[in-house]
Amino acid sequence: MSDIRIDDLPVRDELRGQTPYGAPQLDVPVRLNTNENPYPLPEELVDRITERVREAARHLNRYPDRDAVELRTRLAEYLTDTTGHRVGRENVWAANGSNEVIQQLLQTFGGPGRTAIGFEPSYSMHGLICRGTGTGWISGPRNEDFTIDLAAAERAIAEHRPDVVFITTPNNPTGTAVPPGTVRALYDAAQAAKDSMVVLDEAYIEFSHGESLLGLLAGRPRLVVSRTMSKAFGAAGLRLGYLAAHPAVVDAVQLVRLPYHLSAVTQATALAALEHTGTLLKYVEQLKAERDRLVAELRALGYEVTESDANFVQFGRFEDAHAMWRKILDRGVLVRDNGVPGRLRVTAGTPQENDAFLDAVRELKKEQTA
Ligand SMILES: Cc1ncc(COP(=O)(O)O)c(C=O)c1O
Repeated sequence: MSDIRIDDLPVRDELRGQTPYGAPQLDVPVRLNTNENPYPLPEELVDRITERVREAARHLNRYPDRDAVELRTRLAEYLTDTTGHRVGRENVWAANGSNEVIQQLLQTFGGPGRTAIGFEPSYSMHGLICRGTGTGWISGPRNEDFTIDLAAAERAIAEHRPDVVFITTPNNPTGTAVPPGTVRALYDAAQAAKDSMVVLDEAYIEFSHGESLLGLLAGRPRLVVSRTMSKAFGAAGLRLGYLAAHPAVVDAVQLVRLPYHLSAVTQATALAALEHTGTLLKYVEQLKAERDRLVAELRALGYEVTESDANFVQFGRFEDAHAMWRKILDRGVLVRDNGVPGRLRVTAGTPQENDAFLDAVRELKKEQTA
């Protein structure tokens, strides 16, 4: 039995020889590698979650609300309140993390014989979920400074005529914001090429200097804005992502979602969290200030730092980024090697965690120059 390996099984050809996605989950004192919010949930929210989950537990003999009506209503209110653009329940869909939202979008609009494009380096799960859904992946270009090269992106869309276009703003792992004009132009290019769907991944938007591009949904029925409670809300363990789009898009993803995909416990927990948005989002300003401090201090140390609108910072350059990653880890701080040549990414943590990281890189800088 034990000598049977994956490749001895009849797995799909495109999965052969691949490794599963995942950042290392190492037990080190300071973990700044997965862009989580470093602050645990406040006690009052923990109490409210317990109350809501206790109530939900009484009904676990039944399947949950398949359409997550109450949760979608509250998410729509949150979007309306925070962006000033009116969003209704009919515009919102929710799933287990925005990864599942993206998977449902690709199951609906991608799939065998279809393609999606993203502008790399970007969130590598876009390409991996394509692989999982049998969608062909096209790696589009970026400028040297990691902004999207609009002319080259428009050319790539016209040439490849992808069915789905991913735009991540702020982008992971670079932190780069995409200006509204670029999104408008890429949407127009996508419509001219093939009436394609355009997915705007706003996982980190609450940390941005600029505003959400949710307002672009009006008059753009093939635009989808994807969001998550994993980052600014500080609820990565909850697994709750959502999208806002034209109601027809919400209807379309119903064709692929599994029935009762969002458990009653998840819905109860997310509803409790949404009652406390003020408390949860209060950390956002602090994290933005810490992000700006990381940028300033890394620059002062002589590192090259990419402008960031997210809760993380990309820095370099290193001849061997992986060797540098290892040296920082040896000092008890886990950052991320995303495979971008010469660069690493650090998530903004608590002031103490960031100090530990800055001490580690300062020490390494001294060693280099000694
Ligand atoms: C750009 C981007 N989109 C989506 C996600 C997925 O987040 P989740 O599935 O936790 O909502 C991440 C997570 O790191 C991300 O960086």
